Formats: sequence, C-alpha cells, structure tokens
Amino acid sequence: MSFRIQPAAPARPNRCQLFGPGSNTKLFEKMAASQADVINLDLEDSVAPTDKDAARANVIAAINSVDWGKKTLSVRINGLDTPYWYRDVVDLMEQAGPRLDQIMIPKVGCGEDVYAVDALVTGIERATGREKPVDFEVIIESAAGIAHVEAIAASSPRLKAMSLGAADFAASMGMQTTGIGGTQENYYMLREGQKHWPDPWHWAQAAIVAACRTHGVLPVDGPFGDFSDDEGFIAQARRSATLGMVGKWAIHPKQIALANQVFTPSEEAVAEAREILAAMEEAKRTGAGATVYKGRLVDIASIKQAEVVVKQAELIAKG
Ligand code: COA
Ligand code: MG
Repeated sequence: MSFRIQPAAPARPNRCQLFGPGSNTKLFEKMAASQADVINLDLEDSVAPTDKDAARANVIAAINSVDWGKKTLSVRINGLDTPYWYRDVVDLMEQAGPRLDQIMIPKVGCGEDVYAVDALVTGIERATGREKPVDFEVIIESAAGIAHVEAIAASSPRLKAMSLGAADFAASMGMQTTGIGGTQENYYMLREGQKHWPDPWHWAQAAIVAACRTHGVLPVDGPFGDFSDDEGFIAQARRSATLGMVGKWAIHPKQIALANQVFTPSEEAVAEAREILAAMEEAKRTGAGATVYKGRLVDIASIKQAEVVVKQAELIAKG
C-alpha cells in the first residue's frame, strides 16, 4: 500500500438504483415501496423540456410527503449545459426538506462541474441552515468524463457515488451502437471462424472503479436498456460486480431483484471467504504467511480479498 491509505467508500448498500421520471407522479409510491437501495427521481432525460418545471415541483412535493423508508433518496438534476440545472438546485435546496439525501449530476466532464454545483449547494445550505449536508453522485457518460475521471472522483467531499451512463457515453464517444449496455453485435474477435464477444464497456468501467477506489467513492454500473432481457442484465451486472462495482441501475422494476441478487454476495461466496480467513488465521498461528486452501495458494492478500466479500455481506445484512 502507498503511504497514502486508500479511503473507505461510504458504508451503505447501493445494489440497485431505481429511476423514475419526475413527471410520472404515479410511480413515486411504487418506487418507495420497492426493494431498491437507492431511489433516483429524474429531472433530466426522461422528462420532456415542456415538463421540466412541473417535474421539479412534483419531485419536491414527493420528497417532502412520501415515506421513503431507509432508502437513499437522490434527484438527478439537468446537465450544466442546460438552462434548467441552476433552478433544479436552487428549488431543491430551498424547498426540499431534510429527506433529500443526494443530488445526481449527469454528464460531468471535469472536476470543475462538480465544484460549480458544490459552491451553489454550499451557499444555499449556509443560507437556510440545513443541518445534514447533501451528498453528490455523478454520471460519467462522455469522452471528457472518462478522460478526467480521476479529477472528478477527487472533486468534492460530498461525492459518494459515480455511475457509468452507457447510452450518452456511447454517443459522445461516437460508438456505432444504439444499445444501452451489454453485448454489442459488431464488437467481436474471430478465432478459427468462431466469433467471441468481448465487453466494450470494460475499460470505462475499470477506469471508473480505479478512480472511485482511489478517492473513497462507490462505483456503480448504469442502465441496461433492454428490460426484456434478464439474462443479458445479469451477465452485465456480474461482469460489473467482478470488476469492483457495487450496484447497478434499474430502469424498470423487474430489474431490481436481478441487481439485488447479483450484488449481494452469495451464501457460498461468503462461506468460502470465511473459510479462507480461518485458514489464514491457522497459518498465522504456525508462523506461515501463505497456505493451501482447496488446492490453491492463499496468502496475506487473500485475507483482503476475502474481507471485501465478508464486509459487503455484513453491510447488506445491516441494511
Ligand atoms: N418505478 C416503479 N414502478 C414502475 C416503474 C419505475 N421506474 N416503471 C414501471 N413501473 C410500474 C408500472 O407503473 C406498472 O405498475 P402496475 O403493475 O401497478 O400497473 C408496472 O411497474 C409494470 O410496468 P410496465 O407496464 O411494464 O412498464 P411501463 O410501460 O409502465 O413503463 C418505462 C416502462 C420504461 C417507461 C418505465 O419503466 C420508466 O419510466 N422507467 C424509468 C425511466 C427513467 O427513469 N429513465 C431515466 C434513467 S435512464
Ligand atoms: Mg444520460
């Protein structure tokens, strides 16, 4: 480990972030009753320009009146390139009560984007005497966002989570696809005439995870557009979990259980991790730094790997 210790990410479950348009008020109670850990009420791209003012008012009313239980409650504001975002922030900060946990800033391209929102939010918090500071989350969904991902991860102590937004990311990168996440037909390798489909989102995800882990931020996988394809969603989510992401968005309620299942370590995985910890305890007693578990090497690094699984399971069990 570097002399600079890696900070811990926020200790809260973030397996599934359920989205709903701020213009669709009949969804709010259903979202609150769902099994998602995080709720994202949307003012951005699922709301038509003519509905922006009404959606903002709906969302503020719902924050203040619906029983959101223990969920992390987040609102996605409009991007900093729009005429809407400052009004989103001002009205939310002045009119939404303490139940508002988090603001999601989309299409972040540099650390200064976060700084700008932080300055505005901080000013209003001071003016209104808000006791609990509002957290931030961001979406990396542009070429600039991924190019500056580390500076963005370091941009504010308010920042708690960072998601990959596959659709806008693909558009900004000029990728030849209209798919939102998952396997892409034309992204294949050939071997002896057989096609294999690697993961075109892999490098962006890995870059996000590295930036997040460096700065104590939760890395999250964004939307999977084809909500009829459960197997595709699960495959994408499993790859994300393997890379270090802690959760995934749901854009339809049927995706919630899938995300919760993938991002909750299985009983077998937890049992195995505990066995590895026990094997290493035993090794330590005999003065050994490494030992054999089920025919494979485990050493001091294995303790840290096993602890990731056990700690994640304990965090989720606590709720
Ligand atoms: N949250 C909670 N409940 C939802 C929901 C959501 N996001 N989306 C749909 N439901 C409910 C429906 O109201 C319906 O409830 P009912 O059985 O009581 O009638 C049930 O789930 C089944 O919905 P279905 O008919 O399959 O979907 P739909 O056609 O009503 O809506 C979408 C489909 C995609 C338009 C809708 O799911 C949606 O708006 N998703 C979020 C989009 C979004 O926020 N995008 C921004 C982030 S990428
Ligand atoms: Mg987007």
